[in-house]
Amino acid sequence: MENYRPLPLKIMAISDRDLTWDDISLTSRLLGTGNFGEVRKGTVNLDGERLPSAIKVLKRGADEAARQDFQQEVDIMRHVGYHPYIINLLGTCDHQGQQYMALEMAGNGDLKKYLRTSRVLETTSAAYGNTRQTAGTVSTLSPVQLLRIACDVATGMEHLSSKDVIHRDLAARNVLLTDSLIAKVADFGLSRGDGIYEQTSKRAVPFRSTALEALSKRIYTTQSDVWSFGILLWEIVTLGGTPYSGMKSGLLLRRLREGYRMPKQRNCDEDLYQMMLQCWQRRPEDRPTFSDLVEQLKNMMEDKS
Ligand code: ADE
Repeated sequence: MENYRPLPLKIMAISDRDLTWDDISLTSRLLGTGNFGEVRKGTVNLDGERLPSAIKVLKRGADEAARQDFQQEVDIMRHVGYHPYIINLLGTCDHQGQQYMALEMAGNGDLKKYLRTSRVLETTSAAYGNTRQTAGTVSTLSPVQLLRIACDVATGMEHLSSKDVIHRDLAARNVLLTDSLIAKVADFGLSRGDGIYEQTSKRAVPFRSTALEALSKRIYTTQSDVWSFGILLWEIVTLGGTPYSGMKSGLLLRRLREGYRMPKQRNCDEDLYQMMLQCWQRRPEDRPTFSDLVEQLKNMMEDKS
């Protein structure tokens, strides 16, 4: 792939290590917050080289659930190991009772925001006179670049599923873009590594991207991640739109049970829409696998270039 740029080999070999407090340098730049604490921009010293890093800090007063999620995320990342299309763990540090998770930095931030800021109004010259008319919204990213982002995510997810890890919160806001626009799956806070997972605790569910069987029976599998990937494709096509906009969770569940699925958008190629519908098949076993999706997306990119 033309913009495939893996981390330097050295980092791949030494990723995920125990860091000392001296190895870490935090800036005041806040990249995100959550119930666990915050993510700050910083650097990590790996063998004398300072690498940019997004550093997750578990706040001191974090409750037990947040602590468990933090530890779970570290454990899952260790189990998953290095992959070019996921946000990799550089290392962890425990300092004065505070825990730090140093992650690979993705300079272009989250995909949802990036897509929204990539929107430009498409104008066409009218047939009579030379007035410019607004015809719709397009992206500064080309159709092939958008497909490549989808393919990067599917490749990262293929790796995750090969390790029997279920993400459970795959959505554009949880995909990060590097400086060279490589998309990487991030935010393993809700991930589980059991191949199949039945949720027993009462947690808020990201219902707009969650599969039907996960919403109704709380059963999560790699195939429910495939459903979410279909929603992510829809987010890409709509340049960061909100799925089922305005619909409340109860109504959505009812409509999905009745067979309702989001319609094809203007600008969306038929083959891509068919892929979304495949991902949203009622029966999880009827959905494509991430390997199928990677192959199909590669073919679509070839057809366009
Ligand atoms: N926000 C949260 N994690 C991040 C990361 N790894 N890179 C950039 N921004 C982030």
